[in-house]
Amino acid sequence: MKILVTGGAGYIGAHTCLALLEQGYEVVVYDNFSNGHVEALRRVQRLAGRTLDIVRGDIQDGNLVRKTLQEHRCGGVIHFAGLKAVGDSVSNPLSFYNNNVFGTISLLDAMEDCNVRRLVFSSSATVYGDPRWLPITENHPLRALNPYGRTKLMIEDVLRDLYASDPSWSIGILRYFNPVGAHSSGEIGEDPKGVPTNLMPYIAQVASGLRSSLKVFGDDYPTLDGTGERDYLHVVDLAEGHIAALKVLEAPTLFEVNLGTGNCSTVLEMVDAFARASGRDIPVEHQNRRAGDAASCFADASKALELLGWRAWRDIDTMCRDHWNWQSRNPEGYQA
Ligand code: WQD
Repeated sequence: MKILVTGGAGYIGAHTCLALLEQGYEVVVYDNFSNGHVEALRRVQRLAGRTLDIVRGDIQDGNLVRKTLQEHRCGGVIHFAGLKAVGDSVSNPLSFYNNNVFGTISLLDAMEDCNVRRLVFSSSATVYGDPRWLPITENHPLRALNPYGRTKLMIEDVLRDLYASDPSWSIGILRYFNPVGAHSSGEIGEDPKGVPTNLMPYIAQVASGLRSSLKVFGDDYPTLDGTGERDYLHVVDLAEGHIAALKVLEAPTLFEVNLGTGNCSTVLEMVDAFARASGRDIPVEHQNRRAGDAASCFADASKALELLGWRAWRDIDTMCRDHWNWQSRNPEGYQA
């Protein structure tokens, strides 16, 4: 079966394309390359020893999506394309609503026209807002805290309404916790634009000497060492979760499922693990809490195991080793 992967040249997209090729799927990547890299796809093809097709386009261009779905006879779509920087979503909400919400509606319209009703959607644990209980189960109340999160929640609502109106759709909503790491080859990984806002890429740049120290946001949370706790999962586990979801979507259904490990680590635990993996010093500077951050956030991962037969098994040391391997081989990302 051929899968259309929107945003396939991004961080999670590229790892998922590789997993798809390795599992025998055919792949057409649809990406506007605003934040993705052609070089990532070259490397994916080299690693897989197989080729994929690439269409440069925007998901808001319904005609091009229709043409692509038809010409390639796609049997399903994995939809990653979208803007993701939380800070940018606050300063530029319209571009987020346009790209993420309008873009997805335009994609869904094109899918309906082409009779392709199988979709895996990249959602986020951000839709749970501030956790009311831990671990977070899929029936936790939904509440977004910023425009980015609202776009994910709005899209989820659109998908639930769509399925209610036409249960011949097969829709898997995957709520990611904190994806980190890279493919073990060190050939593909996260190439953040500008100063990283997420923890792991920032730590990696400190380890490689690009930045002098990590600012640790908050040291008085009610956690093991006072720093924030998150559910970090290896991006290759996450990529494999998409394949497991596709298999369940062979019959019409709609499900929401957490993709996380069910464990959590503090900021300082991540710093220690990365220092061990890299053999480098990672100086830290303690700062005030970052606005909007929860003390602790981790998944109840049992539904993913029951429904998809999937679990994230790679540990923190593997995540750091692979992230460091990517960072040290590609200090300037794909550009070099
Ligand atoms: C993790 C921990 C920080 C950076 C965010 C978005 C969310 C999302 C993933 C998509 C926290 C601490 C971080 C730093 C630090 N994406 N930290 N110094 O906050 O869980 O989620 O990214 O859907 O929507 O909100 O991830 O990596 O930013 O932070 O101390 O320089 O690291 O305070 O405790 P987060 P993160």
